[in-house]
Amino acid sequence: MAGSLLKFENVGKVYPDGTRAVSQFTLDIHQGEFVVLIGPSGCGKTTTLRMVNRLIEPSSGTILLDGQDFRQVRPVELRRRLGYVIQRIGLMPHLSIADNITFVPKLKKVSQKARRSRAYELLELVGLEPSAYMDRYPNELSGGQQQRIGVLRALAHDPDIILMDEPFGALDPLMREQLQEEVKRLQRAVSKTIIFVTHDMDEALTMADRIVLMREGEIVQVGTPEEMLRRPKDAFVTQFIGRHRMLRQASEVTVDEVMLTHPVTVPADLGLARSLDAMRRRRVDSLLVVQRDGSFCGVVRLPLVQDAMNLGRECGVGELAETCKTLCPQDLVLEAMHIMLEGQPSGVPVVDESAHVVGLVTRGTLVGLLGDALKRAHEAESPSTETADQWA
Ligand SMILES: Nc1ncnc2c1ncn2[C@@H]1O[C@H](COP(=O)(O)OP(=O)(O)OP(=O)(O)O)[C@@H](O)[C@H]1O
Ligand SMILES: [Mg+2]
Repeated sequence: MAGSLLKFENVGKVYPDGTRAVSQFTLDIHQGEFVVLIGPSGCGKTTTLRMVNRLIEPSSGTILLDGQDFRQVRPVELRRRLGYVIQRIGLMPHLSIADNITFVPKLKKVSQKARRSRAYELLELVGLEPSAYMDRYPNELSGGQQQRIGVLRALAHDPDIILMDEPFGALDPLMREQLQEEVKRLQRAVSKTIIFVTHDMDEALTMADRIVLMREGEIVQVGTPEEMLRRPKDAFVTQFIGRHRMLRQASEVTVDEVMLTHPVTVPADLGLARSLDAMRRRRVDSLLVVQRDGSFCGVVRLPLVQDAMNLGRECGVGELAETCKTLCPQDLVLEAMHIMLEGQPSGVPVVDESAHVVGLVTRGTLVGLLGDALKRAHEAESPSTETADQWA
């Protein structure tokens, strides 16, 4: 079992003026986890985050890093292990991008050469051409690019944990989405633990491994995005994720209501050339392969067939079929969404009890469904949407 990296035990913060910002905050964060803190303005997200990097001292409870009480960790050691990104990242205007990125390594007297190569490598990681950006100054970059640099700056000294407080709050939605994807990708690539604050539920649902929903300084519910959508604990949670009602409507729909009922299937012993021809004629890039008795045996993708043809292989298309996840007609459409999001994007075959293919759920099917749900949501604008928006 991956050990706990950061543990909050009954952590509380009361500010000197008596404001109780955080109470009884208990949470275990694991190595490599992406945890999102979310909740209405003033619920204690920033306070919680800043207690991690000790910009704020807890008034009660304990925070443990690798099982060691925080107060025993030397501040230098703590800073080495943490990176911090905030909404207005505040790059140093008089320092080049390379120097901004490697600001912390510079404080630690890392050589100029090593710092430049680190900056180079990080810029490449987020798709900014290093030679074009290294020596520019912050005011020569767009807001989104500057925000990327802020993220890189938090990564430059290779911390274990990155704290991000509404890092994309000031960006337009498109840039925001792009950066969300980038940060998620970075996190997987360099396997960092991230604690991310937002009050945007969409952002939380997209990015989080686990969501921690807070209200008035306390944790209301902790769960994966799936759990939060499926089993909101109370009316507050339901309203907070209110804008996602359409997903919950979709969650009541079963696969047989939306699937395509005549997917293209081919017998396993069909030759490769004929299979290619079938794809061409039906304008699809994959085929469902079935046995002679009609039972499902897998999916074959266009490039595989082409490669095999080029290699001069003579075999039935069934030999190139790959296994994939399937659904039953009575399964929920939400399951299909999940399978597709988790690495089977082109579609999910639907099979009956005797393993015969009865349908296929594709991206197109889901888009249609979402369109319908949106229309319904629009028609039934209810007051609870407004309440949720006020909170957001
Ligand atoms: N230095 C302070 N002194 C007194 N009260 C404070 C201080 N900083 C924050 N608070 C209060 O503590 C509570 C939690 O604030 P915090 O900044 O943690 O909320 P937040 O969830 O980050 O909100 P937002 O979404 O608006 O950023 C609020 O009621 C806030 O007014
Ligand atoms: Mg805040």
